[in-house]
Amino acid sequence: MARYDTRWPLITAFLITLLSIVAVSWGDPDSDVLLKFRASLGNDGALYNWNASTNPCTGNWVGVKCWNGTGKIWALQLEHMGLTGFLDLDTLRGLPYLRAMSFMNNSFTGPMPNIRKLKALKAFYFSNNRFSGDIPDDAFVGMGWLKKVHLANNDFTGKIPTSLQGLPRLLALRLEGNQFEGGIPNFQQKNLTTVNVSNNYLEGPIPERLSMMDVSSFAGNEGLCGKPLESCDFRKFLLELIMIILCILIAIAIIGIVVAILRRQGQTEELGKVQVEGNQKASCEGDKVERGVPPQMPGSGRKAENGRLVFLRDDRERFDLNDLLKASAEVLGSGNFGSSYKAVLLTGSAMVVKRFRQMNNVGREEFQEHMRRIGRLRHPNLLPIVAYYYRKEEKLLITDFVENGSLASVLHGNRTPGQPGLDWPTRLNIIKEVTKGVAYLYEELPSLIVPHGHLKSSNVVLDESLKPLLTDYGLVPVINQEHASQLMVAYKSPEYEQHGRTTRKTDVWSLGVLIVEMLTGKFPASFLKQGKGGSDEDLVSWANSVVKQERPEEVFDKDMGETKNAEREMMKLLKIGLCCCEVDVEKRWDITEAAEKIEGVRERDKDDGFYSTFASEGDMISSKGMTEVDLSVL
Ligand SMILES: *[C@@H]1O[C@H](CO)[C@@H](O)[C@H](O)[C@H]1NC(C)=O
Ligand SMILES: *[C@@H]1O[C@H](CO)[C@@H](O)[C@H](O)[C@H]1NC(C)=O
Ligand SMILES: *[C@@H]1O[C@H](CO)[C@@H](O)[C@H](O)[C@H]1NC(C)=O
Ligand SMILES: *[C@@H]1O[C@H](CO)[C@@H](O)[C@H](O)[C@H]1NC(C)=O
Ligand SMILES: *[C@@H]1O[C@H](CO)[C@@H](O)[C@H](O)[C@H]1NC(C)=O
Repeated sequence: MARYDTRWPLITAFLITLLSIVAVSWGDPDSDVLLKFRASLGNDGALYNWNASTNPCTGNWVGVKCWNGTGKIWALQLEHMGLTGFLDLDTLRGLPYLRAMSFMNNSFTGPMPNIRKLKALKAFYFSNNRFSGDIPDDAFVGMGWLKKVHLANNDFTGKIPTSLQGLPRLLALRLEGNQFEGGIPNFQQKNLTTVNVSNNYLEGPIPERLSMMDVSSFAGNEGLCGKPLESCDFRKFLLELIMIILCILIAIAIIGIVVAILRRQGQTEELGKVQVEGNQKASCEGDKVERGVPPQMPGSGRKAENGRLVFLRDDRERFDLNDLLKASAEVLGSGNFGSSYKAVLLTGSAMVVKRFRQMNNVGREEFQEHMRRIGRLRHPNLLPIVAYYYRKEEKLLITDFVENGSLASVLHGNRTPGQPGLDWPTRLNIIKEVTKGVAYLYEELPSLIVPHGHLKSSNVVLDESLKPLLTDYGLVPVINQEHASQLMVAYKSPEYEQHGRTTRKTDVWSLGVLIVEMLTGKFPASFLKQGKGGSDEDLVSWANSVVKQERPEEVFDKDMGETKNAEREMMKLLKIGLCCCEVDVEKRWDITEAAEKIEGVRERDKDDGFYSTFASEGDMISSKGMTEVDLSVL
C-alpha cells in the first residue's frame, strides 16, 4: 500500500499538468479566430488588447461585441482605426454567432470581400474605405437575413448587383459616392426604407418603389429621371427642345455670318467708290479712321453681362442698353480707343456711344467713383457723359449727339464748293470758349495732373450755333497706362517726350497746339502718328516755321475769308498759341495766365500800322523753339 501511496500524487500532478498544457495550446476558440483574423490586417495598433491570455468577451477586446453573459461574439465594430490589408472573411466563419460587422472609415482596398461566406449576417458596413472594382452580380445571393448594406464612399464601379433585389429583409442600402453606372435594380422589398445612390453615374428611370424617397438620395446622377426627380418624359422633351433650339441657333448664326460677309463686301465696294471720287478727302478725325467696319452695335450677339447703363444725369430720359441695341446705329468713326456709334432712340433722341477697350486701369469701384466725379461736372462748354456701361473688357460712354460734328472735320473736312469756312470771329470765339471749358476742368479736377488729357480738334464738337463742347476729358486715370502713353495727346507733349512725365501745364500745351491749328488751318500731322517718337519735334518745328516765313500773314488759314483789320489780333493770338506750346514747362504759362491772354484778344485791331511792327516781332521767334518769344507785345 505504501507503494501506491507514493505514486498516486505524482500521476495526478502529471495528468493535471498535461491537461492544462492541452487547454492552453487549444486555447479559447474565439480568441484563436480573432487573432488569426488580426494577423491578416495591417496597421492593427488599435487592437492593442487582443491578447491570447484573456478572453475576448470578459477581456473586453476592442471592437468585439458579445451577448451578455454567454460569451458569444455577435458583432465586430472596428471603425476609424486606419486598418489596412485584407479582410479575411474565411477566418471569421469561425465565429458562428457573428451577425454584424462594421469596418467603416478604414483604409481597406481591393475588391468587394466575398460576403456570402457569412450567410447569417444581418448587417455589414464597409463605407468610407477604398474598396474598388465591380461587384459580382450574384454577390448577395442567399443572404436571407441581410438588413443593412453600407458600401458608400468607396470606389466601386460597374452595375449595382441585381442580387440585392433578392434580399427579403433589406432595410437600408447605401451606395452613395461610388462610380456605379447603369440603372437602379427594380427593388420591391416592402421594408426597404433607406436607399442612397447619390453621386454615382447612374441613369434611367427610378423604380416605382423608391419614388417616395428624398430627392437627395438620387442627386448627383446626371442620367436618372422619374419621381422624385423630373419625369423621364419631360426629360426627353427637354432634350429634344434643346436640340431644336440648338439647331435654330446654328441656323441663325450661319445666316448672320453670311449676311455680315455680304454686307462687308458691299461696304468695301462703296469705300472703293468714295476713294476714287475724293482723293483730296482729308482724314478728318484726329484718330485714325478705320473704315469698312460694319455698323454693329457693341454688345450685340453677346448677353449684356453686367446688365445696365449707369446714368450720371438725373435730368435725362432713361433708356437701357437694349434700347441702344434696337436703335438704328451708324458708325461715326473707329478711333484709337474703339469705335463710336450714333444711335437714334425710339423717342427720337440721338446718342453717341463710344466704346473703350483699353479702360481697365482701375477696378470697378474706382471706375464708378471716377465716373460719378466726371458726371458731376457742369459747364456750357463740356459735352456731358449721360450714362456709361461697365464691363470688364470694355466700357461704353454715352453722350448726346451734337449736330455739327467735330472741330477737326469742320476745319479740315471737305466742304461743298462755295460754302464758307469758319471765319475769324467764329474761330476766336471757339478758342475762347474752349479755354473756358479747359479752365473749368482745371478748377473742378484739381487732383488730376492733366484734367483734360486728350484735348485736340477732333475732341471738340460744335453744336448748331457753333458753340464748342469738349469731349473725352478727364479720362487719363482710367485709361490703361500703356495705351494712354501711346495714344493720348497729353503724352505727346514735350515734357513727356523728354522727361517721361506730364505736368499741370500739359493741357495748356495741347490748347496751344489747338490754337495754332485753328489759325493756320494746318493739321498737326504728328497726331496722326501713333506711338512715341519725334512727334514733339515735328510739332515744334512746324509751328516755328509757320511764323518765321517771309510773309508771316500767309500762315493764316485762307478759309477764314476776309480778315482785314483783324490781322494784328490774329497774330497776337497765334503768338499766344505758340507761348502755350513753350517747351520749357517752367516758362510756360499756367492755365490762368493763358486764359487771361486769350480773353484779351479782340475781334478787330485797334488801329493800322500793323505790318511794320509785325515784321520785327516775327524774327523774335528763335529757331530753337519758342522760348524767346517776346511776350511784351501781348
Ligand atoms: C497579455 O496579457 C498578459 C497578462 O495580462 C501580459 O502579461 C502580456 O504581456 C500580454 N501580452 C501582450 C502581447 O500584450
Ligand atoms: C449587456 O449588459 C450591459 C450592462 O450590463 C447593458 O448595458 C447592455 O445593453 C447588455 N447588452 C445586451 C446585448 O444584452
Ligand atoms: C476616420 O478615422 C480617422 C482615424 O483613422 C479619424 O481621425 C476620422 O475622424 C474618421 N472619420 C470619420 C468621418 O469618422
Ligand atoms: C418588415 O417589417 C415588419 C415590421 O418591422 C416585420 O414584421 C416584417 O417581418 C418585415 N418583413 C420582412 C420581409 O422582413
Ligand atoms: C444621400 O447621400 C448624400 C451624400 O452623402 C447626402 O448628402 C444625402 O443627404 C443623403 N440622402 C439621404 C436621404 O440620406
